[in-house]
Amino acid sequence: MAEDLHIVEQTLEQLGAETPERVAALFAEVRADFDRAFGSVTDEASWHALRDGWLGRKKGVLRLITENWLKPAGPALKPAAGQGLNELRAYVEGKKFGAFTASATLVAEKLDLSLPGVERALGTRHLVRQTLEEIERIFLRLGYAVVGGPEIETPYYNFEALNMPEFHPARDMWDTFYVDTPPGTPSQLVLRTHTSPMQIRVMERQQPPVRVIVPGKVYRRDNPDASHLFMFHQIEGLAVDHDITFADFKGTIEFFVHEFLGKNAKTRLRPSYFPFTEPSAEVDATCIVCSGRGCRTCKQTGWLEIMGAGMVDPAVYGFVKYDAKKVSGFAFGMGVDRLAILKYGIDDIQVLLQNDVRFLRQSP
Ligand code: DAH
Repeated sequence: MAEDLHIVEQTLEQLGAETPERVAALFAEVRADFDRAFGSVTDEASWHALRDGWLGRKKGVLRLITENWLKPAGPALKPAAGQGLNELRAYVEGKKFGAFTASATLVAEKLDLSLPGVERALGTRHLVRQTLEEIERIFLRLGYAVVGGPEIETPYYNFEALNMPEFHPARDMWDTFYVDTPPGTPSQLVLRTHTSPMQIRVMERQQPPVRVIVPGKVYRRDNPDASHLFMFHQIEGLAVDHDITFADFKGTIEFFVHEFLGKNAKTRLRPSYFPFTEPSAEVDATCIVCSGRGCRTCKQTGWLEIMGAGMVDPAVYGFVKYDAKKVSGFAFGMGVDRLAILKYGIDDIQVLLQNDVRFLRQSP
């Protein structure tokens, strides 16, 4: 504190101030002292020091004036002391050095652009998303289009138009979640149990040639365990044209398996049954865990089932008004989550949904 500021360490009485005019003159002295000090501010550091010396809450000049002048002042001088103090405070707080006033809030809000930034953790793409995109890229190269569709479906698309009328036993292949519909609406809704309903929606809106894949979420009332989720991801594929054969289907699938699992992976087809394909097949690929020698993952068979597939059943064409005598095609549906855990050697499918950052961080 400057020499002449010792006056703020004494009371008005000690200073011999007996009239309001005298009090005002004392404030003028103090202000002149502030102006002198302000005149020698050269940089931010000296500005901060000055500000603290005047506005500091415990020992600042304004604090001392409050304690020594204002509080003990008798009724004759109190108004003058109060007014002088308010004016002085406004004056000091309003003073600017560069862009900054002395007012505490503004100073607190200033940005020091030279400080290092806050480092934010970057997320990674989830393993399932990466797998979906990888599979999409393979089929995009073959000229397939990627389309999406609704996760809440009508039984018509999920079952009927796929050649499963009501009470058809094949509906039991999927343990279905039914969705409550508003009272008064007669129709039932389901969480789609597979992406196959999009076969119907796509064929309804376009004529052959059709070549699409449909990635998306599907839902089943399965009990969760190491290989079952009640929500998982499928990619549906559909190719329909004028003379597509089973050989086209086989070639496409072999290409896919080579691209996705590596050139050494082999493919085999097993006869199966789906209401919407005839003939139907299940596609196995060489177990990537043991390269076909046999292990726990493939139950010692050397093979892993990767998709259901087949030639589109002519009955399905009837639902989309295609001429079953003129067109033919194949369809397939694969479980993406299972492919992901196989490819990346994860032994419990549940970790895909748990969102444990220690797992998520391992995604490349
Ligand atoms: N939708 C079947 C399922 O979820 C999988 C499937 C089988 C899809 C045969 C197809 C197909 O397109 O042709 O189990």
